Amino acid sequence: MTQTLTLVVGGTGKTGRRIVQRLTASDRPVRIGSRSGGVPFDWEDPATWEPALENVGAAYVSYYPDLAVPGAPEAIGSFAEMALKSGTRRLVLLSGRGEEEAQASEEVLAASGADWTVLRCSWFNQNFSESHLLDPIVAGHLYLPAGDVGEPFVDADDIADVAAAVLTQDGHLGQIYELTGPRLLTFAEAAAVIAAATGRDIGYTRISAAELTDSLTAEGVPADVVELLTYLFTTVLDGRNAHLCDGVQRVLGRPPRDFADYARDAAATGIWNQE
Ligand SMILES: NC(=O)c1ccc[n+]([C@@H]2O[C@H](COP(=O)([O-])OP(=O)(O)OC[C@H]3O[C@@H](n4cnc5c(N)ncnc54)[C@H](OP(=O)(O)O)[C@@H]3O)[C@@H](O)[C@H]2O)c1
Repeated sequence: MTQTLTLVVGGTGKTGRRIVQRLTASDRPVRIGSRSGGVPFDWEDPATWEPALENVGAAYVSYYPDLAVPGAPEAIGSFAEMALKSGTRRLVLLSGRGEEEAQASEEVLAASGADWTVLRCSWFNQNFSESHLLDPIVAGHLYLPAGDVGEPFVDADDIADVAAAVLTQDGHLGQIYELTGPRLLTFAEAAAVIAAATGRDIGYTRISAAELTDSLTAEGVPADVVELLTYLFTTVLDGRNAHLCDGVQRVLGRPPRDFADYARDAAATGIWNQE
């Protein structure tokens, strides 16, 4: 029997790359949906969506830069409509917790008529090793507006395990899985765990939202990204997400990975000891 093609949007990113690895390892045909894919896919150019959806039965949908940005729900709605027109019924959306626009995108997807599943995730562990928090960790100090609020950081490997399961198994239609790690950590505590794993001093200083905006702007970060990061580090970290959820356990029948295990393995790669 010919297996249907799975489109992994953001298939070179933190979650998508891991999902591609898992599907490929189980001999499932995959198409990477990104600007650098063999069939290029660009959220900003809807003309690229239809070719990327050709012969696709299921898609993992990670929006870029973030479902929190204005216009995301409209893009998700248009993408779902195009997917259904192309015969792609199964859509799995990567979403974020406590973000108004992300939840609006989930609602648009649920109303689209697709066979949908939502993976509503907390902050990824890998933000510290594969994203915007890597450079400050390498430099030895985090300056962020996050205070004493705990965040249940989730591992991108757990998200990928869950995504691969819901894309390939029955029983997940119409589900919203909230994916978190197994414990709450403040950003200062997360920095301390990484410090212990690396044997380095890594400090944490809480700054104001305005100071974050000023420092990112001075580094030349574009204004819309500055606005997004400030929103994520303030509004979304106001305590609304300071609780654990059982999505990983529900889908995989095992607990999520602890931040200390992530930090140990990431430290062993040498990623945090660059010159
Ligand atoms: N980080 C977190 O803590 C967190 C938590 C919850 C939810 N999320 C959600 O995660 C999503 C990001 O997923 P991720 O972290 O796995 O990805 P990522 O590591 O940020 O990688 C971005 C991916 O998107 C592609 N991309 C960039 N610009 C694109 C464009 N204009 N059109 C199409 N593809 C584009 C990139 O490939 P190319 O460069 O080749 O295009 C890459 O594959 C966001 O929607 C965010 O809301 C993140």
